Amino acid sequence: MTTTPSAARTVGVGLISVGWMGKLHSRAYQALPSVYPELGIRPRLVHAADTAEDRADHARDVLGYERASTDYRAVLDDPAVDVVSICAPNVLHHEIGIAAAKAGKPFWIEKPVGRSAEETAEVAAAARTAGVVTSIGYNYRHAPAVERARELIAAGKLGRVTNVRATFFSGYAAEPNAALSWRFKRDLAGHGALADLMSHVVDLVSYVVAPIGEVSALTSTVHTERPVLPMGSGTHFAVIEDGEMAAVENDDYAAALVRFGGGAVGTLEASRTIVGPQCGIGFEIYGTDGSVTWNFERMNELRVALDRSGPHQGYTTVLGNSHLGDYAHFQPGPGNSMGYDDLKVIEAKKFLAAVAGIEHRNSTIEDAHAVAEVISAAAASATSGAWEKAAPAPGATFGRPAGS
Ligand SMILES: NC(=O)c1ccc[n+]([C@@H]2O[C@H](COP(=O)([O-])OP(=O)(O)OC[C@H]3O[C@@H](n4cnc5c(N)ncnc54)[C@H](O)[C@@H]3O)[C@@H](O)[C@H]2O)c1
Repeated sequence: MTTTPSAARTVGVGLISVGWMGKLHSRAYQALPSVYPELGIRPRLVHAADTAEDRADHARDVLGYERASTDYRAVLDDPAVDVVSICAPNVLHHEIGIAAAKAGKPFWIEKPVGRSAEETAEVAAAARTAGVVTSIGYNYRHAPAVERARELIAAGKLGRVTNVRATFFSGYAAEPNAALSWRFKRDLAGHGALADLMSHVVDLVSYVVAPIGEVSALTSTVHTERPVLPMGSGTHFAVIEDGEMAAVENDDYAAALVRFGGGAVGTLEASRTIVGPQCGIGFEIYGTDGSVTWNFERMNELRVALDRSGPHQGYTTVLGNSHLGDYAHFQPGPGNSMGYDDLKVIEAKKFLAAVAGIEHRNSTIEDAHAVAEVISAAAASATSGAWEKAAPAPGATFGRPAGS
């Protein structure tokens, strides 16, 4: 990290993998100085790598990285790279996360951080040993409406939280000929909807309500074969007619009954093959004195009920405004919609502010470990048919003061 004459800190950014998320992380770094000028942080896009040469070239020629490589190690070895974004498929998170920690580079890594709780725990241990700052791609927790829901609960405005319903209903694989990308293969992705989508849900409710202690789950696979898609070509949204078919090796749907620390209970569901909802991640949180509901498909709306039986009983819809989360950094007036990319800008800011020691509001690899243990317990429960406890992940705080 270097300091320029204008006192702005320049942070050299490395990027590993230039797929959907790699491009999005890049846009987030580019937007950061104008959205958060007061931080005085200027990301400099230094070095990107992707095994697909055309994607590495895209990073240099279009996204604006100074150098491009086809081997991620070149990014970690580059002395001008201060921090690294790891946007590779799940199979590589373990190897690259540990390598980044050993190289002493703070890293912002995409969820679910590996294919299993064991892999996530090992990345967490490496980061802890190296003492590097981490951040995870749990973008939904940064939505201003979600931040407000969390504040209302922490302030006791809902009374005692009793029950929670949360879902991630995505239609990205609803089409039976949607491509068999790496996401559908156990050795490349680990679990299916459970890892890809339920990990977001578990983080979201752990952040807003409380960590989850115990689960009873089931999973199912809706479409058992799909057309093959080579790595680095197209996305998992691609539809291939008359392609070579191969087996789907993991779950399309997962459901779990959960018990939260603190006594609340709930139901969580995730599907990647649902028809209707498209990016339907959301929650309904009920307490003895009130409730809140939110869904990403209407990201800018928080529905709040705080009056049990008086004249204002029932829901009030609150639109984005300057009292909610980081909204004021994006829009001066209320009711102007924010979008998905903006959540990644907030995530980039929380990451780089933590790296600079300005504030520590980032999600961490310890949180990812706690989420992975819940997913692992859900997978075990889907096999055993019994309630399973999530193994402890001691460093996880989900943004609360340690020990609270
Ligand atoms: N936070 C979110 O909302 C969100 C959304 C989508 C994906 N993700 C996560 O982001 C990660 C990447 O997903 P994506 O949709 O961007 O994938 P993608 O398929 O669009 O891109 C993956 C890229 O990795 C590259 N790659 C493969 N092997 C590589 C290697 N050895 N070294 C360097 N690059 C390599 C591929 O060529 C490809 O360009 C996954 O872990 C996924 O779960 C998170």
